[in-house]
Amino acid sequence: MTDLEPSLWMPRLTTRALGRADNHYAHTLTSTNQVLKDMARQGAPHGSLCLCECQTAGRGRMDRQWSSPAGQGLWVSVLLRPAMPAERAPLITFCAALAMAQAVRETTALHARIKWPNDLVLQGRKLCGILLEMGFDAQGMFIVVGTGLNVRRGAYPEELRDRAVSLEECTAVPDRGTVLASYLMALEDAISAVEEKGWQGIAEMYRALSITLGSQVQVIGAECFTGCAEEIDDSGALLVRMEDGTLRRVLAGDVSVRGVMGYV
Ligand code: BTN
Repeated sequence: MTDLEPSLWMPRLTTRALGRADNHYAHTLTSTNQVLKDMARQGAPHGSLCLCECQTAGRGRMDRQWSSPAGQGLWVSVLLRPAMPAERAPLITFCAALAMAQAVRETTALHARIKWPNDLVLQGRKLCGILLEMGFDAQGMFIVVGTGLNVRRGAYPEELRDRAVSLEECTAVPDRGTVLASYLMALEDAISAVEEKGWQGIAEMYRALSITLGSQVQVIGAECFTGCAEEIDDSGALLVRMEDGTLRRVLAGDVSVRGVMGYV
């Protein structure tokens, strides 16, 4: 039995819905996001989870592979059927980033920060990535939000050593079930805030942890440019102030954003 076994962490949950519906835990899966999307299409309710020790086809943003070797990380996806218009769905990525930063802080005292749109960063390297996918079924919109947290050193391939990091390299390794329970509780609170107030519901907490807002960034996509990342809008777009004073709206789907000196 590993520390991700639901019977170990479920009794610690104080959530209303997250982690209390259909929880699918397996040793090896293709991708927790993929399996949970299939469960959603078969009617799985809000709050259902899929988690595993090892993914054979873990996916990242922009169709990248996500390395997910057995027992090295927290590979988990959550199914949400939130009460919000579809345009606001990208804000759920920020809820997940905030919630995972909070869970890491509670369980390790490490202060990870958020790089827009979907990375948690520690010591200038990537600790966690988030992949949000949306779909529609008979019940309406659903969202699958998957997080990959590097817990042990073996979580990512050796060639990413200068850009990735794991908890094990920075502190004593926490129990993954405890991190998960803490993440789900913080995620539920952040989603409620966004359902009620949109971006403003989490703006203050997010800004305090963001390494992107207020910084000079390079936007790399079909077009490349540099400017100051000033704000995020209600649809999750980054608002970048150009040197000529104009404001450009950057959508997460198509671009990478880096600090002017490199990854952060
Ligand atoms: C990224 O940084 O590009 C996002 C990485 C997201 C990885 C997680 S691991 C759990 C879930 N299942 C997947 O296939 N991907 C996400």
